[in-house]
Formats: sequence, structure tokens, C-alpha cells
Amino acid sequence: MTERDPGVVRPLTHADLPVLDRFERELFGAGAWSRAALAEELEGPGRWYVGVQDAATGALVGYAGLWFDGVDAQVMTIGTTTGHQRRGVGAVLLATLLGRAREVGAAHVYLEVRVDNDPALRLYERAGFARMGRRRGYYQPEDIDAWTMSLALGAPGADDDKELSA
Ligand SMILES: CC(C)(COP(=O)(O)OP(=O)(O)OC[C@H]1O[C@@H](n2cnc3c(N)ncnc32)[C@H](O)[C@@H]1OP(=O)(O)O)[C@@H](O)C(=O)NCCC(=O)NCCS
Repeated sequence: MTERDPGVVRPLTHADLPVLDRFERELFGAGAWSRAALAEELEGPGRWYVGVQDAATGALVGYAGLWFDGVDAQVMTIGTTTGHQRRGVGAVLLATLLGRAREVGAAHVYLEVRVDNDPALRLYERAGFARMGRRRGYYQPEDIDAWTMSLALGAPGADDDKELSA
């Protein structure tokens, strides 16, 4: 495996919950989803969750989820375990979600990101996402603002983005 080999993308199942639970606490601290919330996400209507498995060990090293509401898609979460960051895992996960969003015919993809999360902001901006508005205190209990970001996928009506109210 080369240092940049991000691994293999696969769907996530309930069997992955203990690992996802650990990743959530490692990556999101006080803002981590509970195991029950993760379980609901994996099964929720319109949800689609994938992980990246290390090519050498088979261990899960990243995960991400998309919600499609029939019109637009939303990146629900994306994370790479700290020991595997900066090897292309996040970029592969995001590209996989965007591929899925295109497949299901989403006009736009939206997401929220902490205003102080430079790695994620760079990842999203590299993929073409643009900042739309700022949501005060979106992340609780940390009380940190979020940027809302959007990417138009070229479907009819996708070029009429409007500024979201902050
Ligand atoms: C954001 C995150 C998912 C990126 O995952 P990753 O696997 O390290 O990302 P990649 O290796 O695919 O990097 C893709 C690009 O993102 C940007 N990036 C990623 N980490 C970065 C860092 N620490 N500093 C600056 N830019 C960074 C770079 O542009 C990078 O491309 P490059 O390596 O060719 O320069 C990861 O840092 C993470 O899990 N963070 C904690 C959880 C989180 O904040 N998730 C986002 C919630 S909105």
C-alpha cells in the first residue's frame, strides 16, 4: 500500500456501530452523535452511509453519510480516524457521496461545517462547495458557528442558488 492509498469504499451496516461510535467520540468530542443516533442515521429514510476500509488491514478508517430528500442532498457527516488523515480518505468519501447525489438526481448538495474547521473547509472548497451563510451557535454544546455550504450539481434549476439567511 502506498502512503496515499485511501482504501476501499463499502456500505456501512449495523455491525459497524461499535467502531463508528468510537470514531464519533474521537473526532467530534462533545458534539459526537450517540450510538442510538448513529443507528437511526444508518436506517433513516433517504440516508446512505459508506465507509473506507484500509486496503492492508481491512479496518474501517473513515465514514460518511448523505441524506437525499427527493430534491436536494445533504452531507450528514464525514470523518477519517486520526491515524489515517491526510491520505485521501476524506476526498474519496466526499467524491463517493457526490457520485451518489448525482445518481439520485439531486440538484444541490448542502452541508454545515464549523467555521474553525480548516481541514474540512479545504476539503469541501476543493470539491467545489461555496460558502452561503453563517449559522450562529449551530454546534452545541460547544456554541460554535457553522458555515452553510452548497454545491450545484447541474440539474435543472441548479444555477439559482440564493444566499441563506444567517
Ligand atoms: C475533514 C477530514 C474528514 C478530512 O479527511 P482526510 O481523510 O484527512 O482528507 P484527505 O486526506 O482526503 O484530504 C483532502 C483535502 O482536504 C484538505 N485537508 C485535509 N486535511 C487537512 C489539514 N489538516 N489541513 C489542511 N487541509 C487539509 C486538503 O486540501 C486535502 O488535500 P491534500 O492532502 O491533497 O492537500 C478529517 O480531517 C476529519 O475527519 N476531521 C474530523 C472530523 C470533521 O471535522 N469532519 C468534518 C465535519 S463537517
